[in-house]
Amino acid sequence: MNAAPTLLVTGGGIGIGRATALAFARTGYHVVVTDVLETEGRAVAEAIVAGGGSANFIAMDVRDTGRVDAVIAQVCAARGAIDALVLNAGIARKVPLAELTDEHWDHTVDIDLKGMFRVARAALPAMRARGAGAIVCLTSLMGVAWGWTEHVHYSAAKSGVIGLMRGLAAEVATDGVRVNAVSPGYVRTAQLLSAEHSLGPDGVEQAAARVPLGRVGEPEDIAEVILFLASDGARYVTGQVLVADGGLSICPQ
Ligand SMILES: NC(=O)c1ccc[n+]([C@@H]2O[C@H](COP(=O)([O-])OP(=O)(O)OC[C@H]3O[C@@H](n4cnc5c(N)ncnc54)[C@H](O)[C@@H]3O)[C@@H](O)[C@H]2O)c1
Repeated sequence: MNAAPTLLVTGGGIGIGRATALAFARTGYHVVVTDVLETEGRAVAEAIVAGGGSANFIAMDVRDTGRVDAVIAQVCAARGAIDALVLNAGIARKVPLAELTDEHWDHTVDIDLKGMFRVARAALPAMRARGAGAIVCLTSLMGVAWGWTEHVHYSAAKSGVIGLMRGLAAEVATDGVRVNAVSPGYVRTAQLLSAEHSLGPDGVEQAAARVPLGRVGEPEDIAEVILFLASDGARYVTGQVLVADGGLSICPQ
């Protein structure tokens, strides 16, 4: 329907999602930025257009099934099936186990795991019907290899993302759609810089010293990996987790 392939990214207003939107735009994708952060998301789409690219912003909360279904239907009607779907939206909330209520658990899992399922479920029929497309999910070192104290619900959700990814990959492979995951280590974003919920600015600098490659990741480091997994260069890769952590997971801490 359209010459330019289409990326839809969730949580595209800041952080890794924003860097992903910009990276795909540079390679010629039309970028659909979605987020609950409307000002930030709109600014990303406007920056892409101002730079000569093609993008639009649509407000979308991944907790809202009706909204997700309507947004995906709108995008497919305008552009045909989505070519690259990046399931990036996520939160990390620090809650000690003794205070971890059902509500805390459900809130994180609803966004970090079920939110990805909702968007993939809505987008896949058109991708499968066309017989092409790639999905990339954001998991975490905290879901792949490490436990994270006071973040049991986050680790559980991020491990769940791997099961979701593998299940989807197996089910849609014969339709020509690939599904993979990226596992970042420490990436300098609002999530990591939160002193309340994660390392905070001082903790980030201390963490950098422990990373074998000598620094924490930047959002662009992860965006490039996502771009690869969505590209034809990864045409024979599906159901995999690509760890982009500067070597953290292979060295004793
Ligand atoms: N930063 C890191 O070190 C790190 C490490 C491992 C994994 N991750 C994962 O990478 C992804 C991006 O993280 P980030 O570091 O860029 O975080 P971030 O906090 O900078 O951005 C998260 C984005 O998700 C959006 N979001 C949150 N709730 C939403 C909802 N209900 N509906 C739609 N959008 C929603 C936010 O508005 C924001 O745009 C997340 O899934 C995160 O868990 C990050």
